[in-house]
Amino acid sequence: MFEGLEDSDLSKVSQVTKERFCPKGTVLFKEGDIGDAFYLLKEGKVEVLKKDGDAEKVIKTLSHTDKDSFFGEMALVGGAPRNATLRTAVDSTVMVIAKGDFDMMLRLNSFIALRIMTALSSRFRAAAPETPAETKLGKLVVAFSPKSGAGKSVFAANLAAGLAKMGQAKALLVDLDLQFGDLAFMLDLHPKRTIADLVENPTDKPEVLKEYLVDHKSGFSVLAAPKKPEQSEMINSSHLRAFVELARKHFDYIILDTHSFFQDLTINAMDMADAIFLLMLPNMNHIKSMHQCLKVMENLKYPPDKIKLVLNREGAQYSRSLEEIETAMKRKADFTLKDSWKQISELIEHQKTVFEQDASCDYAAGMVRIMEFLTGKKFAKDTKKTWLGNLFGG
Ligand SMILES: Nc1ncnc2c1ncn2[C@@H]1O[C@H](COP(=O)(O)OP(=O)(O)OP(=O)(O)O)[C@@H](O)[C@H]1O
Ligand SMILES: [Mg+2]
Repeated sequence: MFEGLEDSDLSKVSQVTKERFCPKGTVLFKEGDIGDAFYLLKEGKVEVLKKDGDAEKVIKTLSHTDKDSFFGEMALVGGAPRNATLRTAVDSTVMVIAKGDFDMMLRLNSFIALRIMTALSSRFRAAAPETPAETKLGKLVVAFSPKSGAGKSVFAANLAAGLAKMGQAKALLVDLDLQFGDLAFMLDLHPKRTIADLVENPTDKPEVLKEYLVDHKSGFSVLAAPKKPEQSEMINSSHLRAFVELARKHFDYIILDTHSFFQDLTINAMDMADAIFLLMLPNMNHIKSMHQCLKVMENLKYPPDKIKLVLNREGAQYSRSLEEIETAMKRKADFTLKDSWKQISELIEHQKTVFEQDASCDYAAGMVRIMEFLTGKKFAKDTKKTWLGNLFGG
């Protein structure tokens, strides 16, 4: 699973890996236990067992020569309960990475993190249950950028507002910028509860979920970021997956605002997403980082049409032109949002969305095009007036 890692990265992985000899019949972990380590089979054979009534049944035997002979990856990304028991079928040697050591390694080297997340996410995808065709589920939209300050939060908040106000859709805006998210403040909302309270009291009931949301006057709901940065540690990808699954049944659109860092939560969000909007500013730093970010998206094997490149603040002073950017990026921008410094500054100052403040500004026009793409509806007024219309003020 570590293919693609450089030798120097592999040596860092090996520093946190402990080799363990396990005689035949050793139980490495039990179904239902909270995972705290990840295992790679170096030599030997293991059995995967699942509960079947009071007994346990062997559902699979894997040997070290099998490509997917690694186990317990969910423990590394989310501390989720083990979904099966693992027992050695013959005398075997396993490599063990404890969650604490793994976290430390990832903090020190985000490139290794990315490679590992790539391997894990393709396995999650393969294991994901199919959704029955008849269930109507809301669309999950992720706003991401490899650089901070690209305009993700303004974008996410205004998209939720536009979808609710113009699109008459049930929209939920989620602040996944868990340490310093400020969507509630931006929108002049005063949530009693946040995502941290929700994960402390998980629910599968929509009426309970509503108690954790705060409603905006434009008609959308917000799940706010934790009140204290340290609470961000409480939220893992299993919480996110469970929450999104529930929210999808009750909202037409769930819009996730993120922070500019690839970590398991963001990758899980992107895995589940129907559309990922990658925001960038028209300058060289953003071009460079977006280039790398698009490469990661390619490695994650996302279908190209799931990824939408958004050039924000187009036309800002001293910025690169759309043509220059597209040439440097070797791809077209899917959407552009004009630099609207005055309007956006006013929005921030008055804690409003563009659809309350100035729905006719250039920024709103760009958002409308994005909403049209997401909903398949037409919202923009036809600007080509007929001579009759002009004559009679139509
Ligand atoms: N199209 C635009 N025109 C002018 N200013 C903009 C535009 N979009 C965003 N801004 C400004 O850029 C700044 C950053 O926006 P925002 O907070 O949405 O970025 P972000 O990507 O969420 O940042 P962070 O990574 O810190 O969360 C804000 O001050 C906002 O007013
Ligand atoms: Mg933000």
